[in-house]
Amino acid sequence: MTAQALKIMGTPRDKAPEIELRGDPLSGDRYWSREFMEKEWERMWTRTWHIGGLVSELPNPGDFITCKLGRESILISRARDGAIHAFYNFCIHRGNRLVQTERGNTPYFRCTYHGWAFDNEGVLRGVQNPEDFPGSNPCGKNKLKEIRCETWGGFVWYNMDENAPPLAEALDPVYDQLLPYNMDKMVRVLWLTAEADCNWKIIHDNFNESYHLPTIHPELNTFIEDSYKQCQFDMYANGHNRMLMPGGQPAYSSRNCDIPQAPLTDMLAYWDLDPARFEGRAREAREALQQQKRKLGPSRGYLHYVDLSDEQLTDYYHYTLFPNTSLTMSSDGFQVLRPQPHPTDPEKCIFDHWFFVPVVEGQTTVETPVGPRPVAPAAHEVFRHGDQSLGFVADQDLSVIPGQQQGLRSRGYTDSLLSGQEARIRRYHEVLNDYLEGRR
Ligand code: FES
Ligand SMILES: [Fe+2]
Repeated sequence: MTAQALKIMGTPRDKAPEIELRGDPLSGDRYWSREFMEKEWERMWTRTWHIGGLVSELPNPGDFITCKLGRESILISRARDGAIHAFYNFCIHRGNRLVQTERGNTPYFRCTYHGWAFDNEGVLRGVQNPEDFPGSNPCGKNKLKEIRCETWGGFVWYNMDENAPPLAEALDPVYDQLLPYNMDKMVRVLWLTAEADCNWKIIHDNFNESYHLPTIHPELNTFIEDSYKQCQFDMYANGHNRMLMPGGQPAYSSRNCDIPQAPLTDMLAYWDLDPARFEGRAREAREALQQQKRKLGPSRGYLHYVDLSDEQLTDYYHYTLFPNTSLTMSSDGFQVLRPQPHPTDPEKCIFDHWFFVPVVEGQTTVETPVGPRPVAPAAHEVFRHGDQSLGFVADQDLSVIPGQQQGLRSRGYTDSLLSGQEARIRRYHEVLNDYLEGRR
């Protein structure tokens, strides 16, 4: 259902009620201990909802994808009746990995070991010597081990916990708040995955604060407000949070906050606004851009603007979903930034960076965090962190990870000394502790 059908225009900006922090220390072991990593796996990762892939990767019956989370591989399949199923990716005969590829289309998943065949609903359909099994032929009576699976936002989500709440409840209130962006209609034009040398939480903590913007991303203050005093922060009961950052104007902290600079000058010019008009009053650019995008957007193919509020036409709504998915929403695309746990090493992680754009008639290429890319589903690029760019801003974020991973290893480190605007970091670890210590 589109946001329009729900009669929503834009995302509500209601400030969430304050959540009091307990003050749990951000202990060092959580970033390097194997024991902590195991506990996370058993008590948190296996009980929370995760994105397995895109609905658009499974347009036809027989289509399948596989994805990884830590030591697990999950097989997601579109059955003949159109339903999407998720299974642990192993063969129930002797436990062999069933599907070794990332995607494809097949009527049967055939195990490479003894040749057992399963249909798209996971039902066993063929074995060698069926008469040789105790009882009777095992076909039709046995299935792959199925797990919970739902769709939202154009993503397929899975959960290994059969008692987990439904996805809508688990994502509340984000589930409704992000509807106006119509994420399910966007195209993933960038699909990067890098193995990085740090615990997954080091990267995720970074997405839970904007205190590092002036030092790590000084360029951003030419068009994004980076002061906590101008941003809105909301924390929700189930662990998710958001940060609303005004965009389309220089930050107050910017040295030349009254003179428009690139890329703001390019944004203004693109929307037929003369940057010279804003010299001495660059902070008026935001409202002018909102009005111009509202006025010219639809005739230029930006039909999706109709569902967004004026503020959303310029601002950045940055969501952090528990446990590890960050979504940076803008009117012209959104990013998924997701550090995943490494299968065996707590001091490594697997970092995904995806970028999605709306389809705008006549637009064949778009600017992405790594430069221009065609408006078409991207191929998966997998590499080691450092071998290739993850995008200018993500490269800046990840530039600090070796130093932080080393420092948090020190026997002298016991906790972080956080500012008020970094409360989301502590809150996140407190929700994680709730899982690990049996309160969730
Ligand atoms: S392990 Fe799959 S058929 Fe034997
Ligand atoms: Fe950053």
